[in-house]
Amino acid sequence: MASSPISVTFAGFFVILMLLRSSCVYANGCYTSVISFGDSLADTGNLKQLASDYNQVVRFFLPPYGENFFNQSTGRCSNGRLIIDFLAESLGLPLVPPFLQDNGSDNKEAFKHGVNYAVAGATALDPRGIVDPLANTSLVIQLAWFKQSLPSICGNYSNCRNFIGQSLILVGEIGGNDYNYPLLMGKSIEEIESLVPLVIDTIISATNDLIEMGAKSLVVPGNFPIGCSAKYLTFCGSEDEEYDPITGCLIRLNEFAKYHNKLLQAKLNQVQELHPNVNIIYADYYNAAMPIYRFPYKFGFTNGALKACCGGEGRYNVDLSVRCGDASAIVRDEPDTYVSWDGMHLTEAAYRIISKNLFSTPQFNSLCSTSTSGVGLSNSM
Ligand SMILES: *[C@@H]1O[C@H](CO)[C@@H](O)[C@H](O)[C@H]1NC(C)=O
Ligand SMILES: *[C@@H]1O[C@H](CO)[C@@H](O)[C@H](O)[C@H]1NC(C)=O
Ligand SMILES: *[C@@H]1O[C@H](CO)[C@@H](O)[C@H](O)[C@H]1NC(C)=O
Ligand SMILES: *[C@@H]1O[C@H](CO)[C@@H](O)[C@H](O)[C@H]1NC(C)=O
Repeated sequence: MASSPISVTFAGFFVILMLLRSSCVYANGCYTSVISFGDSLADTGNLKQLASDYNQVVRFFLPPYGENFFNQSTGRCSNGRLIIDFLAESLGLPLVPPFLQDNGSDNKEAFKHGVNYAVAGATALDPRGIVDPLANTSLVIQLAWFKQSLPSICGNYSNCRNFIGQSLILVGEIGGNDYNYPLLMGKSIEEIESLVPLVIDTIISATNDLIEMGAKSLVVPGNFPIGCSAKYLTFCGSEDEEYDPITGCLIRLNEFAKYHNKLLQAKLNQVQELHPNVNIIYADYYNAAMPIYRFPYKFGFTNGALKACCGGEGRYNVDLSVRCGDASAIVRDEPDTYVSWDGMHLTEAAYRIISKNLFSTPQFNSLCSTSTSGVGLSNSM
């Protein structure tokens, strides 16, 4: 028997009330801090510190990196802010300080509102064989740093459980480099496909570890459409490759990224089912970025979406022998009109739009926001 219109309305009202209630739980608590793990997509200065400890110069720390927002290179692999910066801003929190740079005597104060363990170049899996100290930064190592540093940041066990529970925890993006290194060494996509389940298991195991330590809100990003990367287009492009007719991106590489993302989501769903009181958000970097590649002009990317702003000559402004940060690199004007910053990493303008797209997805609706920045999370209240 069909229910009467009145009871339908009442049921609808009740659902709305419940939704309001559940989002208020988050809105009232919000987050006191952001804790982050990952690679160059989220590193705010850790590799820079590590390199300086080992007296190495890394081009990501030379001009023009950072020049369009920070007026100096901070160790971020972009001309300005990253997604993690827009996330912190939209949560009303300060930019997340890099653990290695700020790991000093007063960790409690320095990391009160967040701490970032992400290191540019990091892999999810532990590197095998001889390890460059700058590459000894896998997700497992980052988690070890986190566990080790907890007492100095938040004190005793129960305080730390509270600290972790009140934090928004960003687990990635991580895993991209596990594929980048072998791909850019010339391995085929078929060869690296076998890595995907291992990478995903590592991300899931870190997620489970964090939940065990008291995490209540985790954001786990997937991979970008790497077939749209200027570096891959230059390195892997050939007449034999299939290109997407609308975007010009390499289809096989994008399919590979989607495969990683699909597996990650399936495993995250399992974790969510086991922990119904934990909020696990899959951050769909792939689909948040895709509109930019489909309609670059709509977003002001008047140089198209595929050419790098900083680099060399060539169809995609990538020359594998001249890299952004080198003295001989060409730095083009108006970085906001480019999606790709250095061929591999994106410009601040691209990260801003991706953040905006991301924060307006249903997955992010359970996050609260105190944003006034305009990039804000969709349900700011
Ligand atoms: C960078 O310099 C510009 C212009 O001098 C200034 O407006 C801006 O606040 C500076 N940015 C930072 C993060 O210091
Ligand atoms: C952080 O600082 C402490 C105290 O100075 C030091 O013992 C520890 O090794 C540092 N951790 C890392 C990962 O650098
Ligand atoms: C990697 O880092 C870990 C933790 O900091 C350390 O115990 C290990 O010795 C390092 N390994 C290498 C090969 O440097
Ligand atoms: C943890 O430290 C706080 C003070 O920071 C104290 O009030 C609390 O009793 C301590 N808890 C335990 C279990 O030691």
